[in-house]
Amino acid sequence: MAEPRSVLVVDDDAAMREMLVSLLEEGGLTAADAGSVDAAVEKIRETDFDAVISDIRMPGKDGIQMLGEMREIRPETPIILMTAFGSIDSAVTAMQAGAFDYFTKPFKRDQVLVALERAFERRALETENRRLRRAVDQTTAFGDLIGTTAAMRDIFAMIRKVAGNRSNVLITGESGTGKEVVARTLHFVGTRASKPFIPVNCTAIPEGLLESELFGHVRGAFTGAHASKRGLFEEAHGGTLFLDEIGDMGPGLQSKLLRVLQDGDVRPVGGNRAVSVDVRVIAATNKELRKELEEGRFRQDLFYRLNVIPIHIPPLRERRGDIPPLAEYFLRKHAAGDKHSISPAAMNVLMNCRWEGNARELENMIERALALSEHREIRPEDLPVPDREDALKPPLEESLLESAVEHNLTLRELEDRYIDAILEHTGGNKVQAARILGINRRTLYRRGEHNHEHDQQHHQAHS
Ligand SMILES: Nc1ncnc2c1ncn2[C@@H]1O[C@H](COP(=O)(O)OP(=O)(O)OP(=O)(O)O)[C@@H](O)[C@H]1O
Ligand SMILES: [Mg+2]
Repeated sequence: MAEPRSVLVVDDDAAMREMLVSLLEEGGLTAADAGSVDAAVEKIRETDFDAVISDIRMPGKDGIQMLGEMREIRPETPIILMTAFGSIDSAVTAMQAGAFDYFTKPFKRDQVLVALERAFERRALETENRRLRRAVDQTTAFGDLIGTTAAMRDIFAMIRKVAGNRSNVLITGESGTGKEVVARTLHFVGTRASKPFIPVNCTAIPEGLLESELFGHVRGAFTGAHASKRGLFEEAHGGTLFLDEIGDMGPGLQSKLLRVLQDGDVRPVGGNRAVSVDVRVIAATNKELRKELEEGRFRQDLFYRLNVIPIHIPPLRERRGDIPPLAEYFLRKHAAGDKHSISPAAMNVLMNCRWEGNARELENMIERALALSEHREIRPEDLPVPDREDALKPPLEESLLESAVEHNLTLRELEDRYIDAILEHTGGNKVQAARILGINRRTLYRRGEHNHEHDQQHHQAHS
């Protein structure tokens, strides 16, 4: 059976609260109560109520102020306000401020329950809509790979395209951008999924040892080689070998690897018989390989062999749209089934960090916040980010940015439009506009003139 719906009753009059609470409980609901707006806001932070019923007029903060505060915390929770008989004005104000409904005191029992029923329905509808929206966005994931930005979608598309063939792949990107996840996805959505995926970290193993790890060795090939051993290339037969940190591979091994890639067979250390292998090689590096090439630390011919299909993962700060889905994903990954969430304010903080360590840093931060947070909800104070002021930038309407992206606006074009919009907002008052824009008035004037010149040149060019 579904859990009973929960309602928070807010009124400074204790008798009224008691009456409402028992009315709700008789109606099969669970109810909590608060005697002031501050107490109510505290409870709302802790509990996700299905609805709130509140008096409008209370000493200190009133119900309208509470509406404002609540919208910030839980925009989906419907609020029903109660007004004293005859103060229809405040009822109108309440509706304008975003109350779901109101009724006047004294009220009938059924009136309250019916209003609540409608509120629950609406809330269920909104939850469902959000779920559907999310489901549509669920190109947010491809295997274990999360992302909604155009950059990540391009990577999904590329993986889909090449997962079925054997061409070698080179994945580049800063540390923590998800190179290994991309490599695994490439293997596990492809035709080789039932065969081994073998990751090798080229920096973790000393060069001499790495050679025999990769290619194997015969008995007696070197001191300690008491038995012959198959190499990882052979182990990966039919599957994928993931050579991580390839940029750190030494020159000797580079040429041996090149030979294997050219000939399609491996020669175990100390042996003279070649074994033919069918292996897809996916290599990854966080180094600027082109620079390594120019400076002669990485063989050009090997680079071209590996770089048949290049996949570059941009740093997280250049695809901030992936932060929310990644944060949610890491939350689910580490919260062990609990109903944890990230408050909108906290998400805002996450959106504005630099993320030098990319997704890995984000994951660590979420994991730590989960461990330290005393609530079910991660809040800004649970996030130890240094650049806090910067983090408190208000969130922009997603639609604004989306439409800028859709029209491929240049930074300059976006700036010009924003300047125009602010000028309109200030009714053409340039002093005020300059203040909002954070530029001085002369710059604003100059921008205006420049734009006109620009327009004229534009016209001439086309006439
Ligand atoms: N797009 C993504 N979707 C899901 N998880 C991701 C994504 N990007 C990174 N991660 C997670 O972030 C962590 C770091 O990713 P990964 O190890 O693949 O990074 P990397 O690029 O290989 O880093 P390094 O260069 O330091 O080895 C992992 O726990 C991984 O699961
Ligand atoms: Mg890695």
